[in-house]
Amino acid sequence: MANPFEKSDEKGILKDERYLYPEFVPERLPFREREISELVFALKPATMGRKPGNIFVSGFPGTGKTVTLKYVLHELEEFSDRAKCVYINCFEKSTRNGILVKTVNSLGYPVPERGLGSEEVYERLVALLKSKKVIPIIVFDEAEQLLKTDDSKKLLYDFSRLGEEKGLFLGMVFISNDAFFLSAIDERVRSSLQASHLSFEKYSPIELKEILKERAQYAFFGNALENEVIPLCAAHAAKNGGDARIAITVLLKAARLAERENAKQVQLKHVRASFMQEKPVKFEIAENLSEQEFLVLNFVAGGEVDAGAVYKALGRKFSERTLRKAVSDLEGKGILRARRVQKGRGFTRLISKAAR
Ligand SMILES: Nc1ncnc2c1ncn2[C@@H]1O[C@H](COP(=O)(O)OP(=O)(O)OP(=O)(O)O)[C@@H](O)[C@H]1O
Ligand SMILES: [Mg+2]
Repeated sequence: MANPFEKSDEKGILKDERYLYPEFVPERLPFREREISELVFALKPATMGRKPGNIFVSGFPGTGKTVTLKYVLHELEEFSDRAKCVYINCFEKSTRNGILVKTVNSLGYPVPERGLGSEEVYERLVALLKSKKVIPIIVFDEAEQLLKTDDSKKLLYDFSRLGEEKGLFLGMVFISNDAFFLSAIDERVRSSLQASHLSFEKYSPIELKEILKERAQYAFFGNALENEVIPLCAAHAAKNGGDARIAITVLLKAARLAERENAKQVQLKHVRASFMQEKPVKFEIAENLSEQEFLVLNFVAGGEVDAGAVYKALGRKFSERTLRKAVSDLEGKGILRARRVQKGRGFTRLISKAAR
């Protein structure tokens, strides 16, 4: 039998599908001009050796928070040698030591990942900032992960101390789906941050259509899309939370299905078929979840969490009863998994996202 991988992939549909990968950072970000200019306004002082502002960025999934920050960091580094940008995804890295080490490394003075204590790495950072006159701009993406352990909370102290006690300049951007992130930070840290708030709104169907058109222009050969394909992807994403990630993912899946069928064009039926395929991780969030369910799910997204910690963290907004119900409803929908374990003399429930 011929090797099935040998079949040709050249179908004249996708020219370069990388433009449709979620992590791709395009050269233009339509409909985010205001957000970009707010970020530039806050961070620009760093390029002149002055103190930048701290910012808290919130908004629903797929509204362009991560990509906008990556875009702004890239432009900032191009523009100035003085500002040194550090992007941290707190899902991947949320320990105090890990983040301090990454920050020092990003400033161009490598320290080993292990071997030095956090205090020592912190002192190196202070010394570096004093002698080098660079101003770090640190972006904490998925920042709510930092509130989960005492260790990572200490990190927030470390950074706020840099400014307060040492008189050093640095800029911090915190990105989170959780609009209450700031109010959950320790009050002393919060008041020293003086962060301004930038909220990213959901995209409208028209905006999603424009965004898709622009990305599609580079990803596809001319005439590869049937007329109504982009509007259908946009409408679907608009219905599911105004999420650009959904719009882009659906289009890429439809294109792959079309190629697989040897079709000449991506057609509406391919788009519809792609709706049926397995959903990306954040898909279900937009789908018929109550606000409390959304926040619970978001809180446990990084791993297993004690149910008590969830009630405590979200207790400012919802009663424990409401939160308990949200947890059990999510469990009922197969989105969460709960495990009963002994704690002290009693029991507690450890909850996590169910594997799909
Ligand atoms: N204005 C835009 N123009 C082009 N592409 C965009 C735009 N906004 C978002 N995207 C694309 O949509 C996808 C989702 O955006 P992004 O990852 O920035 O969302 P997010 O707000 O960080 O979501 P989450 O809260 O889930 O992390 C990415 O592929 C991104 O490149
Ligand atoms: Mg993001």
